[in-house]
Amino acid sequence: MIDYQGKNILVTGASSGIGAAIACRFAAQGARLFLAARNLAKLEDVCRRCMEAGAAQAEAFVVDFSSESSIDAFVETVKGRGVSFDCLVLNAGISQRALTLDTDISVDRKIMETDYFGPVYLTKKLSYMLRSAKLVNIAVTSSISGLFGFPLRSAYCAAKAALFGFFEALELENPNIKVTFLIPGRINTEISKSAVLGDGSTYSQMDAGQANGMDVDKCARIAVRAISKCKHRQLIGGVELLMVYIKKYCPALFFKLAGKVSAT
Ligand SMILES: NC(=O)c1ccc[n+]([C@@H]2O[C@H](COP(=O)([O-])OP(=O)(O)OC[C@H]3O[C@@H](n4cnc5c(N)ncnc54)[C@H](OP(=O)(O)O)[C@@H]3O)[C@@H](O)[C@H]2O)c1
Repeated sequence: MIDYQGKNILVTGASSGIGAAIACRFAAQGARLFLAARNLAKLEDVCRRCMEAGAAQAEAFVVDFSSESSIDAFVETVKGRGVSFDCLVLNAGISQRALTLDTDISVDRKIMETDYFGPVYLTKKLSYMLRSAKLVNIAVTSSISGLFGFPLRSAYCAAKAALFGFFEALELENPNIKVTFLIPGRINTEISKSAVLGDGSTYSQMDAGQANGMDVDKCARIAVRAISKCKHRQLIGGVELLMVYIKKYCPALFFKLAGKVSAT
């Protein structure tokens, strides 16, 4: 198990939900936390919680991961300060609640920009540091929706699936990079509220499926343990994870069930 005391950890999407909970877990190990998202007030609150939990440092960075120029500015800041990350938790993301044929292509692109190109672009911008590091953990928050198609989530499924290909190839090319795919099922966060509808507006509702999901602190405990052990992939959730095994071992049954499971 890696000891993160004094280690530099970047968490994207750290202003709420899974990212905030993961940050607090690493804080309890005495890590130095670099927390990035768009909402400064929420980030500062998470920083405060991290310091109370025992972080050696917790700092907020306002970054929009759907914008190359915003990522550029962030990387210039950390580069200028000579910061080198021991661990990246690439977690920022938005979801979708719209039928495939009702989803405007601009929404597909917006979800891909945030959930796929954001982590990909950031990783490339940090290549100067990744190339020279002895060992870097990269945790990537995908989803069980990245393992199969699911109603109302076509763009989200596509973005989360694409992460596997990119980051697995990166790991195979670089022996000093250890990738952990975090694969949550349903976790009790407010992700459904920021989910995007077919016309680009925000869904703004707390789904029952979300509210009945796994406790976010339990999710973070499992995630940080998996990262510390350099596990290649970690499923996190409850009974919904059965769908992963049904898809793998009994695909015909999967297609019967998946359309009937509530998507909200
Ligand atoms: N909850 C689940 O059931 C579940 C299941 C599978 C996968 N996941 C994945 O887990 C990750 C975290 O989600 P969550 O459940 O913790 O939901 P959440 O509470 O809504 O967290 C999403 C985080 O991403 C950030 N974010 C969104 N768009 C961003 C952008 N353009 N630039 C920078 N930051 C952005 C948000 O911060 P700001 O709004 O402050 O920018 C927030 O910190 C996501 O990638 C999600 O897809 C969640």
